[in-house]
Amino acid sequence: MSGHKKYPNPKEHIILSQQFTPSFLSELFKLTLEIKKNPEKFSNELSGKLVATLFYEPSTRTRLSFEAAAQRLGASVISTENAKEFSSASKGETIEDTIRVVSGYADFIVMRHFEDDSSKRAVSASSVPLINAGSGKSQHPTQALLDAFTIFENFGRLDNLTLAAVGDLFRGRTADSLVYLLSKYENNKFFFVAPENSRLKAGLREHLKEHNISYQEKSRLEEVLSEADILYITRIQKERFADSQEYEAAKGKFILKKEHLSKMKNKAIIMHPLPRVDEIETAVDSNPRAKYFEQAKNGMFVRMALLKIINDNVYGKK
Ligand code: CP
Repeated sequence: MSGHKKYPNPKEHIILSQQFTPSFLSELFKLTLEIKKNPEKFSNELSGKLVATLFYEPSTRTRLSFEAAAQRLGASVISTENAKEFSSASKGETIEDTIRVVSGYADFIVMRHFEDDSSKRAVSASSVPLINAGSGKSQHPTQALLDAFTIFENFGRLDNLTLAAVGDLFRGRTADSLVYLLSKYENNKFFFVAPENSRLKAGLREHLKEHNISYQEKSRLEEVLSEADILYITRIQKERFADSQEYEAAKGKFILKKEHLSKMKNKAIIMHPLPRVDEIETAVDSNPRAKYFEQAKNGMFVRMALLKIINDNVYGKK
């Protein structure tokens, strides 16, 4: 494994979106499109390999799509779905010790953890590729990959786009990860719409200023509907609020309703990392601009491509 750079090589470990370059994304998306068209062709790419999924926080999409991706590539999977309670973390074992041990059993580790710096710590202890499947409220880099792939499928580009991120931008990690990624492309503009107590994190705001990237914070959904190419709605992260009154103050502020659709561009798309609570009315689901279920499905194909690229680089092509 190569080291000592600011970020790891994304063909070795995945910890955050800033690692990905446009050329890496081009390679990933080309392969994802091939896999999506004909997944059976890739059914032996990871045969003989073992993927460990360690999830210290709940998940439906990320864990199951990684496990489906690994198995569809011919790998086997070992898993601990509630590692906070059922792994030896509950006895006080550190992330580093757990990863050192699991590295001895598996060829890949996919980890979701509640601490913001968990994947960086895990990489420092891992002798096999480590993939961050969500780290606290900081990052969810493979979600950004599938989000970007969905945008690319719909627009044929990742530049010259206006994205409006809506919801809990302080405790959520998916909008940040996607914005870090899209900020690598020319002429993208960002709107951020969040409850007063859930506004954009200081780190992302500084990143956008430092790179002279156009962004505006708005207080009403209606202010962004007609301009957005991508309306990226997120959930208010109830489980991350220390105070229930703060949650009550944030919830239900921005709900996308059927009546909003007429104000949006015809070619705009509506995305959501899911799970959804009430922030998009189910009446919106049948609109052709609603892409969130296709987005979730893309997660498996993007993760198949990612596992194959890392496997080919670290263990050699079949
Ligand atoms: N989008 C996402 O990370 O979903 P899960 O929490 O279900 O994995």
